[in-house]
Parts: sequence; C-alpha cells; structure tokens
Amino acid sequence: MWILHYFYHSKRHQWCLYFALLLSPVWSDDACPLSCVCARDSGTVNCLPDPEETELPADIPEWTSTLILKGRNISTLPRGAFTFNGTELLMMATLSLPFNGIQVVEPYAFLGLTRLHLLDLSHNQLRFISARAFHGMPELRSLYLNYSIMPSAMAQLSYALNAESLRNLHRLELAGNRLKFIPLERLDIYSLHALVLINNSIESIDKENITSLYQQRRVRVYLSLNPFRCSCELEAFYYWLKNSSQCQDAGRLLCSEPEPKRGFPVEKLRSEDVDCMNENLEAVSYVFLGIVLALIGVVFLMVLYLNRGGIKRWLNNIREACRDQMEVYHYRYEQDSDPRLANVAV
Ligand SMILES: *[C@@H]1O[C@H](CO)[C@@H](O)[C@H](O)[C@H]1NC(C)=O
Ligand SMILES: *[C@@H]1O[C@H](CO)[C@@H](O)[C@H](O)[C@H]1NC(C)=O
Ligand SMILES: *[C@@H]1O[C@H](CO)[C@@H](O)[C@H](O)[C@H]1NC(C)=O
Ligand SMILES: *[C@@H]1O[C@H](CO)[C@@H](O)[C@H](O)[C@H]1NC(C)=O
Ligand SMILES: *[C@@H]1O[C@H](CO)[C@@H](O)[C@H](O)[C@H]1NC(C)=O
Ligand SMILES: *[C@@H]1O[C@H](CO)[C@@H](O)[C@H](O)[C@H]1NC(C)=O
Repeated sequence: MWILHYFYHSKRHQWCLYFALLLSPVWSDDACPLSCVCARDSGTVNCLPDPEETELPADIPEWTSTLILKGRNISTLPRGAFTFNGTELLMMATLSLPFNGIQVVEPYAFLGLTRLHLLDLSHNQLRFISARAFHGMPELRSLYLNYSIMPSAMAQLSYALNAESLRNLHRLELAGNRLKFIPLERLDIYSLHALVLINNSIESIDKENITSLYQQRRVRVYLSLNPFRCSCELEAFYYWLKNSSQCQDAGRLLCSEPEPKRGFPVEKLRSEDVDCMNENLEAVSYVFLGIVLALIGVVFLMVLYLNRGGIKRWLNNIREACRDQMEVYHYRYEQDSDPRLANVAV
C-alpha cells in the first residue's frame, strides 16, 4: 500500500515534468527561436532575414538582452508585441527592428520592455503611430526612426514623441523622413544630446524653434542635406548657426533657393543676405522713388497744360530772339570777312 502510493506520486511528478517541458520549450535554457542564432553569453538573439515571415518570433528567451530582427514582413506591432504569456523580457536593452516593412505601431506596443535602452525602427514604412506607441520605456536613450516615417504618420509622430516615458531620450534619429520642421512640441521634456535631422525637407527653422534650441544648450543638431531657402526668413537660424556651436555639421549646410544662391554654404552668407530690415527697406525705397518720379511727371504735365497759351507766346519770343541774334551774327560775319577792314586792322 505504501509502496503503491509512492509509485503513484512519483509517476504524477514525472508527468508534470514532461508536460512542462512540452508546453514551454521557451523557458528551458538552450531554446532558441526558429531561424535565429542565439548567443547566451552575450545575451544576443539574431534572427535571419526572411521576407516570407509575417509574425514576430513568439519564443524569445527570457535572458535576451539584444534582439536583432530584420528583413521580415511584419506589418503591425500590436500591443505588448514583446510580452509573451504575461512574461516580460526584463533583460532586453537593445531592440533592433530595421527593414521589416512595419506600417503600424499600436498603443503600448513595447509594453514590458522597461529596461530598453535602444530601439531601432529605421527603414520601415510607418503609416500609423499611436500617440501611446512609445509608452512604457522609461529608460529609452536612443530612438532610431530614420528613413521610416511615411507622410501620413507625420502629424502622429509629434504626439507619439511627446510621451512622458521618453524623458531619458539622449539620441533621436529622424534622417530621411521629408520633415519640414522639427516634430517635437518642446525640447525640455527630454535629455536630448543628439537630434539628427539630416536629409529632410527643412527650408528654414523658425524663431520659436531657435529659442527652444538656445534654451537646451546640450542638444547637438545635425542638419546637412536639407534644402535651405537663403532669404531673410533664415535670419534667426543664420545667427544661431554662427553664434551657438550646437549644429555639428554647420559647414555642410547649403542653400537650395533662391536660384542664384543654390549650392552656396549657409554659413558663408553675409548678414545683409538674411537681413529682413534691409530687404524691406530696399523694396520700400524703390516704391517710394517710383511714386516721387510719377508725381513729378504729373506736375510737369499739369504745368504744361495750364500754361499752353503762355508757352506759345514764350516760344514765339524765343524764336524772335533767336532770329535777332542770327541777324547780328550774320552782320558781324559780313564785316569780319571784308578784306578792306582786315587790312585796316593790321
Ligand atoms: C502562451 O499562450 C499561447 C496561447 O495564448 C499558447 O498557445 C502557448 O502554448 C503559451 N506558451 C507558453 C510557453 O505557455
Ligand atoms: C507582406 O505580408 C502582407 C500580408 O501581411 C502581404 O500582403 C504582402 O504582400 C507581403 N509583402 C511581401 C514583400 O512579401
Ligand atoms: C539610421 O540611424 C542609425 C543609428 O544612428 C544608423 O546606424 C544608420 O546608419 C542610419 N541609417 C541611415 C541610412 O542613415
Ligand atoms: C535622402 O533621402 C532620400 C529618401 O528620402 C534617399 O532616396 C536618398 O538616397 C537620401 N540621400 C542620401 C545622401 O542619403
Ligand atoms: C518647432 O516648430 C514647430 C512648427 O512651427 C512647432 O509646432 C513646434 O512646437 C516647435 N518646437 C519647438 C521645440 O520649438
Ligand atoms: C550670440 O550669442 C550671445 C551669447 O551666446 C548672445 O548674447 C547674443 O545675443 C547672440 N547674438 C545673436 C545675434 O543671436
């Protein structure tokens, strides 16, 4: 009886063990997701490109600190995309998801990744970014969104980046997104050190943004390959460029407009080129000169018209005076050419 009881218990114990192993190969130490390469020592899981694959791997080991997944066809990052059966990947510090054709980032997509330091979403086609997309990552320091934002997500981007949870953000990469302005409502909510805006569609940076930049002294901004419009609207930006050393690639900024200044370095412009006062004054003075000339013309014509009788008389007088003069000359000429008189004079 006692032996039987023991046997029964141990059997059940074994069964439980088998069951657990069957259900959760994930949590066993050596498990690695299909078509990924795992390096337990460095905590790295590197998943191979596969354009056919439309799902995220569901069995990422708990010890993962770096997950690299690229070249797949993942259209949506749903809520808690990296939380599996309530288990959180607490070790995850680096999540690299470039070139995955991601179009939609739903609210709380990165839920549970409370230790994440770096999130790379570059080279995707983000059409929808929830305002709460980046919630739940209080330690995020680097966010890469270069070559990833579609025009339809432009407005949403500002809201998504306004998240309180991004307050430790040090580096924000936004290159190649056809941005026309800095998509950040304010700069003082982050700890930004680097803001990369290379290869966008920025023509100028307005006074408000310049003031914000002056206030955040430690921010370094990268702005080359933008089509700057080198007219007087660039004034505040021009002085910021000259005066602060916040733009790291200042020497490489080129004018794209107006035509005669195309390709000219923004930094090498003269202050007159961006002086709105000067430009306005010049325009005003030309208009003024025109008006004065027109007035003089009108007055002249009026005088002529009102005096047409007098003018006729005056002209006649002149003609007569001329004739008299001519006669006098004629007389003198005849006298001068008289040889007899010439001999007398000698
Ligand atoms: C996680 O849950 C899914 C269903 O939601 C289930 O199919 C899967 O076996 C579970 N995995 C583990 C490791 O518990
Ligand atoms: C990616 O997957 C979607 C369905 O989720 C499909 O419509 C699309 O054709 C796929 N793209 C590629 C390049 O395989
Ligand atoms: C996007 O940003 C990351 C992080 O700086 C960088 O490694 C990568 O080269 C960038 N891609 C392009 C095309 O600039
Ligand atoms: C700038 O971005 C466009 C796409 O927005 C890309 O086609 C081009 O190659 C980029 N240029 C450089 C120099 O990276
Ligand atoms: C930058 O300028 C844009 C457009 O004028 C504005 O919406 C945004 O709030 C400004 N951001 C900062 C930080 O000044
Ligand atoms: C240049 O910078 C100095 C101090 O950084 C500041 O006092 C001055 O107003 C700035 N000049 C312009 C034209 O912005």
